[in-house]
Amino acid sequence: MEMTAPAVPEVDPRHHHKVSGISDGIAFGFTKVLRFCADTFFARRYGHRAIVLETVAAVPGMVGATLTHLRCLRRMSDDEGWIRTLLEEAENERMHLMTFIHIAKPTLFERLVILGVQWVFYLAFFALYLVSARTAHRVVGYFEEEAVISYTHYLRDLDGGNSPNVPAPAIARHYWKLPEDALLRDVILVVRADEAHHRDVNHAFANQLGGLAAPERPVSPYPEHAVDIRQPV
Ligand SMILES: [Fe+2]
Ligand SMILES: [Fe+2]
Repeated sequence: MEMTAPAVPEVDPRHHHKVSGISDGIAFGFTKVLRFCADTFFARRYGHRAIVLETVAAVPGMVGATLTHLRCLRRMSDDEGWIRTLLEEAENERMHLMTFIHIAKPTLFERLVILGVQWVFYLAFFALYLVSARTAHRVVGYFEEEAVISYTHYLRDLDGGNSPNVPAPAIARHYWKLPEDALLRDVILVVRADEAHHRDVNHAFANQLGGLAAPERPVSPYPEHAVDIRQPV
């Protein structure tokens, strides 16, 4: 069956939430330290970088959803749709990981790094969310700004012929409803649009928790995803 690719939503790859106040400053500083570590460790090995960082990116949504769920139970209050949004974010990031695992194979050392980082990051993010959910969402907003930048670099690398523009993995074609002949470049475009959406949603959540006005610019649209993420066999 002939399939036409759904249009990739427009992404502003340079959007940055201006730091204002201590909470933002902590979130931004923390993000920049991690960015420096990632740049040093991976340099331009974009496939490997994507795998390791997506194992981290899939954590905050689940932590935020869990703690919001528990808070709503305690307070017997409405979640205003936050729990589903955050769970969806976690699933979406896991699908990024499941896609890139077909592009690059993590080394044994990277697998060990993932194990260690997961323990530290899960506990640290959980603690941060308990202390300041606002700062936690701002951290994710800044992480996602960096993710958008990294995937823009990956696109440039592909366009420059430094990384091969291989066929899109089947799991990605199914999840993003891409055509049979889709390539890695098509996948990175939709992944980047996902990240831009998470970026804007998390900055908006942080604003709301901080009692600030909602960001003026609209949230970057989310690409279309398969409802049932399991591939038909
Ligand atoms: Fe991601
Ligand atoms: Fe993301």
